[in-house]
Amino acid sequence: MTSARPTRDVGTILEALPYIKRFHGRTVVIKYGGAAMTDDALKEEFARDVVLLKYVGLNPIVVHGGGPDITAYMTRLGMKVEFVDGLRVSDADTVEVAKMVLVGKQNKDIVLRLGRHGQPAVGLCGDDGRLFTVRKQLAGAVDIGFVGEIERVDADVLHHIAEDYIPVVASVGADVDGTSYNVNADAAAAAVAAAVGAFKVIFLTDVNGWRADADDPDSLIAQASLDEVRERIAALQGGMRPKLEACVAALEGGVPEAHILDGRLPHSLLLELFTDQGIGTKLHR
Ligand SMILES: Nc1ncnc2c1ncn2[C@@H]1O[C@H](COP(=O)(O)OP(=O)(O)OP(=O)(O)O)[C@@H](O)[C@H]1O
Ligand SMILES: [Mg+2]
Repeated sequence: MTSARPTRDVGTILEALPYIKRFHGRTVVIKYGGAAMTDDALKEEFARDVVLLKYVGLNPIVVHGGGPDITAYMTRLGMKVEFVDGLRVSDADTVEVAKMVLVGKQNKDIVLRLGRHGQPAVGLCGDDGRLFTVRKQLAGAVDIGFVGEIERVDADVLHHIAEDYIPVVASVGADVDGTSYNVNADAAAAAVAAAVGAFKVIFLTDVNGWRADADDPDSLIAQASLDEVRERIAALQGGMRPKLEACVAALEGGVPEAHILDGRLPHSLLLELFTDQGIGTKLHR
């Protein structure tokens, strides 16, 4: 038997080397959400990938949503589920459920998986170490309730945790009076990335990236500049709108690159970071 396969594997490692060198010691913020969070096999792959990042010397910080699961629990409780411009309309009961699902269930699930794959992780939400201070977000004429936008990030707690652990952040927070708000996880990831000076923020989602036509996978926009995104953002609908707004916020906040990747594609994170192959949408300043 000839050994084409080992040679190819070594090729992959050699291809990764310049990236590993360049990224060593640098912080990458990964927004984890959508369908990649609902499939068990993908959750395992995700945990393995993030652990690998830490082992090769990057500093990963995970920020997660959990939209589908929040919706599932709300439905089980007979609650009304409603979105305006991609943001969940949130009364006090909705925020209570969202916080329980995100902090109590999703966050610990990710923390456990990372731990099992070999890197201890610590879960926190905006309340911990005063990470986020939020205020009510206004969405035009419609009152969407307790949806908060991040007013301030105190990244101190993240720096402490990241020295030894992988921080895993659930996207809820409270205002100065202690009222809890649902925070869009894309916005939370962008705010964290800017506050910690990340070199990249990566949004894992359930589509192949930002598409010119939302329903056509072939219309993927592979690259765009900050100005191009700003121009097109008003025409966007659904969950891609807050995601691109978050990309703009991250880039404006000093993060050099934002990526939107297909979380359904196993190891999309590693492909993006360590190979020459460009996948998904890349946004740059
Ligand atoms: N132009 C577009 N290109 C791609 N997807 C789009 C576009 N416009 C709307 N979408 C929708 O945005 C969705 C992704 O956002 P969504 O908020 O649903 O998921 P997420 O942000 O990954 O997860 P979560 O909100 O749970 O954190 C896609 O599933 C798609 O239906
Ligand atoms: Mg979303």
